[in-house]
Amino acid sequence: MFGPEVRCLVVVGAQWGDEGKGKVVDALAEHAELVVRYQGGANAGHTVDAPDGEFVLHQIPAGILHASTRCVIGNGVVLDPETLFHEIDALRERGVMMTGRLLVSDRAHLVLPYHKLLDAESARSKKIGTTARGIGPAYEDKYGRRGVRVGDLRHPEIVAKLVAAGAERANAMLALAGSAKRCGAPEIVAMLEELAPRLLPFVADAGRLVADTLQGGGHVLLEGAQGALLDVDHGTYPFVTSSSTTAGGAAVGAGIGPTAIDAVLGIVKAYTTRVGNGPLPTEAAEREAEGLRTLGGEYGATTGRPRRCGWFDAMVVRYAVRVNGLTGLAVTKLDVLDTFDELPVCTRYRLGGEDLVDLPDNVAALEEVEPVYERLPGWRQPTGAARTLADLPRAARVYLEGIEALAGAPIRYVGVGTKREQLIEVT
Ligand code: IMP
Repeated sequence: MFGPEVRCLVVVGAQWGDEGKGKVVDALAEHAELVVRYQGGANAGHTVDAPDGEFVLHQIPAGILHASTRCVIGNGVVLDPETLFHEIDALRERGVMMTGRLLVSDRAHLVLPYHKLLDAESARSKKIGTTARGIGPAYEDKYGRRGVRVGDLRHPEIVAKLVAAGAERANAMLALAGSAKRCGAPEIVAMLEELAPRLLPFVADAGRLVADTLQGGGHVLLEGAQGALLDVDHGTYPFVTSSSTTAGGAAVGAGIGPTAIDAVLGIVKAYTTRVGNGPLPTEAAEREAEGLRTLGGEYGATTGRPRRCGWFDAMVVRYAVRVNGLTGLAVTKLDVLDTFDELPVCTRYRLGGEDLVDLPDNVAALEEVEPVYERLPGWRQPTGAARTLADLPRAARVYLEGIEALAGAPIRYVGVGTKREQLIEVT
């Protein structure tokens, strides 16, 4: 994917997250000088099946497993400093060294204990089904212009003031919601004072670093989290996350201009899953959903929740192609479909007796749409050993060609298993 024409590549989820971005980023990161996470936070769970075992990364970019790749937590991320160090320590214990290779933007906002309390509280009333990692409340503080940024840790007096005001506000909101839970500013300030000397050596002007790397001819991968349908603007609002998961968010969240981006790769699972609440038009009946869940190991990498499972939805992916400007697709987990006789693919939606040309703009309508399926034959053979498209059974190639034609973007990679060598590059 990287080459003279593509030096800055964005990798995004093109469904509801959990498409296998970790695996693709890990594979592509080998050719990148820099991998940058640009939005979200510890709500993400990017799984990489590396030669020395499986790693689940939440805030650290999936490029970290390549010893010569530098990784950046960009300004668009909301960073949970406590869990960052759990992640760093766990990686160090397994021999992954980060000194000088991991950089954190001074402009990234911090997720604090009161954000998590508020997120847990809103779960009782709002029913979004969040990951309870404090993501929404942290972004609320960012956009409310009262957040604490990583760079503020250089100034303890600023942090103390911001945290006191934040805790007071959070406590008032908890009281209003009828919760007995409260947070204490002094404990949070003490926690930040303890973490600051560990965190500050990682802190840098990340936007500058990305720009300098590109200027110097280096390759930069911008790693999205979640997926297009969870984007705060373009997703199934309000059943979304609180950040811009789509490619436009990559420029803002990494600190570069949109003209610096050369290509956008959308990661698409060969079927569809969603974790959390909200519409999922192609959700399968429980018996089939259970089959996909078991075969695909469809349990949340962050929360362990069982994912809702269904068939490939071309309306969703076509929409993701449009809102991200996808220049290519990586289709993952094709092997999960190896045992099915027949594979329904949703080609369009009907609503009120009419064909829809695009996704409706509201969840009430999306709950009502009737998916129209084309049934493609299954291949009923294992595909995990395929290393080129030609190695795949004919029916699997027909399935992929169908996806490509319906989605309207070329397939550049096909995943047939979790291992690094099980990612076929389409040449
Ligand atoms: P939040 O991002 O924790 O606020 O959760 C909002 C919605 O996004 C919920 O439906 C979550 O299940 C979903 N979500 C957040 N992060 C991920 C992810 O990494 N993969 C899949 N779904 C996610």
